[in-house]
Amino acid sequence: MSLYQKSFLKLLDFSPADITALLDMAAELKRQKKAGIPHRLCEGKSIALVFEKTSTRTRCAFEVAAADLGMHPVYLDPTGSQIGKKESIADTARVLGRMFDGIEYRGYGQEIVEELAHHAGVPVWNGLTNEYHPTQILADFLTIRERFGRLHGIKLVYMGDARYNMGNSLMVGCAKMGMHFVACAPKEYFPNQELIETCESIAAETGAILEFCDNPDVAVRDAQVLYTDVWVSMGEPDEVWEKRIRELSPYRITMQRLEQAGPDCVFMHCLPAFHDLKTTVGKQIYERFGISCMEVTDEAFESERSIVFDEAENRMHTIKAVMAATLVED
Ligand code: CP
Ligand code: NVA
Repeated sequence: MSLYQKSFLKLLDFSPADITALLDMAAELKRQKKAGIPHRLCEGKSIALVFEKTSTRTRCAFEVAAADLGMHPVYLDPTGSQIGKKESIADTARVLGRMFDGIEYRGYGQEIVEELAHHAGVPVWNGLTNEYHPTQILADFLTIRERFGRLHGIKLVYMGDARYNMGNSLMVGCAKMGMHFVACAPKEYFPNQELIETCESIAAETGAILEFCDNPDVAVRDAQVLYTDVWVSMGEPDEVWEKRIRELSPYRITMQRLEQAGPDCVFMHCLPAFHDLKTTVGKQIYERFGISCMEVTDEAFESERSIVFDEAENRMHTIKAVMAATLVED
């Protein structure tokens, strides 16, 4: 099915064939970029990048991909626009839709990006909401495909807060692509029951396996990927740190966990990651709680098994594919 003029808001809206087509397109655009072959498929178009939360990878991926495709990106930072404060989402969408060919949005509730897409009249791309981070999953899946040559049957264990954007999106993506997904965390950190049921019905069609397990020794067995994310996400209050550190520390990814999983198991993380004391937040947490890393040890992060920078690079190639697929008529 053509994705022309379609918004990219969450993976639930896309079929396994659509996701495969986007990954194939990203791989081809990556090949062209490495070979120095120009691919200015969207020459002369303009896009708006609306960020209500901060970003390094997503913003840079959209800007570089836009330039490679021949487009002009305009960045609106978390404080610099009227959106939501002096102007409603619907009004902002109708203004931006008159000036731009596509809009990226990073912010809070999923309903905001859905409303933006409803009113904009041009494709809207979700650059992260509280509930979903779909462009990240495309990058993760391209990276897994590059490493293992396939997605179907790959066992991916997500350790940590699986109720939020990364846990939810990985579960949906794995269900769609026939993978073996395990959320490994205390029970209260599992995705919500409604989303689990939706994904279970997708899994029944695709052959995916979905599991929820609070015992990391059991969960990691024979995994190809151990995946984690920060324990406290953007926009969450400072007060939650203590409980998160207490409850999620047993789910930290260590060399021992990777070895327990098996010889071919890799470490993945959407980044940014707290693996040492070289960040302001990392230092503050050390001063308050005495821990020098959080969701992953520095040793595991820096090890041969860590493919986080391949993953980060692939943000750009996959975001480029999403823009090209939705802006160019096929
Ligand atoms: N992974 C990711 O979305 O990174 P940024 O927050 O830097 O965009
Ligand atoms: N769960 C994290 C993902 C960052 C890419 C957050 O929302 O802050």
